[in-house]
Amino acid sequence: MKSNLPDALRHSHEVPDDVRRALARVRERCGAISRRIHWLTTTGSTNDVAAHLAELGAEEGTTVVAESQTAGRGRHGRTWFSPPGAGLYVSVVLRPAGELARRNPAALLTLASGVAVAEAVRTVTGLPAEIKWPNDVVINRRKLAGILAEGASQGGTLQHVVLGLGVNLQATAYPAEIALRVTSIEAETSRPSDRALMLAEILAAVSERYADLRAGRFDAILSAWRRLAWALGAAFVEWDSPDGVIRGRAEDIDEHGALLVRVGGRIERVVAGEIRWM
Ligand code: BTN
Repeated sequence: MKSNLPDALRHSHEVPDDVRRALARVRERCGAISRRIHWLTTTGSTNDVAAHLAELGAEEGTTVVAESQTAGRGRHGRTWFSPPGAGLYVSVVLRPAGELARRNPAALLTLASGVAVAEAVRTVTGLPAEIKWPNDVVINRRKLAGILAEGASQGGTLQHVVLGLGVNLQATAYPAEIALRVTSIEAETSRPSDRALMLAEILAAVSERYADLRAGRFDAILSAWRRLAWALGAAFVEWDSPDGVIRGRAEDIDEHGALLVRVGGRIERVVAGEIRWM
């Protein structure tokens, strides 16, 4: 880990004091997460920096935070709007092992982190954050946060998962094409959000939910997810299949994190790909 550090780390500096203090208060809940933090003024994508560090042998829990991203990525190749100070842009290197690595760790980590972020937002702000399958944290149907878990394997063996979290903090000028679908902590509370407190609570909650996963407590994650789920049992979804568009009612998730959709008299299992909520 001493040589060949990513170029992006040239923009790294000390973790700000307010963040350091907030993290010290949740230290015992954080496990390995945030023990080592790379704090960057700017970078392309924190997920890319974290993946690079993971390839160089970075320990589990290594955390990359950027104040802005120039190439922030969302799911399905979308851009994650990441201007300076407007959000939290965080990636954590995880090295799932055992049963968790044999299941679908990226999908399970996405579910577990959705629970963690929604719980952290509720704890810090009291806002009614909910989760929209598979990875959106929403408030009043508008997206507040997203999760991008990216795994890397070698010869069929999982090497690491980079867990990327983006949370909108400031009511900033979002691009027109997303402005009506997103929200921020500041827009919902009408107060500036406390970045340090939010980051610390999110990392602590992610660490606790990751501990649930590693200990095989999948049921605890699934029941928390169902409690926080937006519109499960009530909303309709559709997706494209080789036979045309399929529509149905989103009913539940299964133990692997797949969405279960009632289509006529049968249940369809949606694992990945893009669905449209109606
Ligand atoms: C999504 O909802 O589409 C996922 C968004 C994930 C955004 C975060 S911001 C930090 C990390 N770095 C990235 O480039 N993406 C993730």
